[in-house]
Amino acid sequence: MAAKDVSALFLDTLKDIYYAERQIYKSLPKMAKAAASDELRTAFEKHHDETEGQIERLEKIFEMLDKPVRGKKCDAIEGILNEGKEIMEEYADTPALDAGLLAAAQAVEHYEISRYGTLKAWATKLSMPNAVELLDQTLNEEKMTDDALSKIAVSTINAEAA
Ligand SMILES: [Fe+2]
Repeated sequence: MAAKDVSALFLDTLKDIYYAERQIYKSLPKMAKAAASDELRTAFEKHHDETEGQIERLEKIFEMLDKPVRGKKCDAIEGILNEGKEIMEEYADTPALDAGLLAAAQAVEHYEISRYGTLKAWATKLSMPNAVELLDQTLNEEKMTDDALSKIAVSTINAEAA
């Protein structure tokens, strides 16, 4: 594949994740408000703050490319977030709510981990070390968030069983 094709893909995917991050940023406070456990609410609030920084990193990469900061509607994240919204509605005030919220949030994290992994690989190919570093920082935050959610999921299930 020619370098030019990868750079077009890179910009397109950057717009996709930029749109996704902004949607996630809007959704996290709603998920935090819905969460029954303090631990889960705190995790969502923490990731909301992190997401703000992740959006700023993406804006820096648009600048590096000398391109306008622009999102592009991402159907994948719309679908994942809509499923989360359905869970919040259908399982409101039930003991399963937090388990459902955790599952929805982990689906979001896995989508992001996939996107950032790809973008990092493409930035490497395009010889953009500064972008690689920014993407790597975000990738690590997403992975740590996913791990934290996994741990909460285990303790939530254990608490349910008790
Ligand atoms: Fe993110």
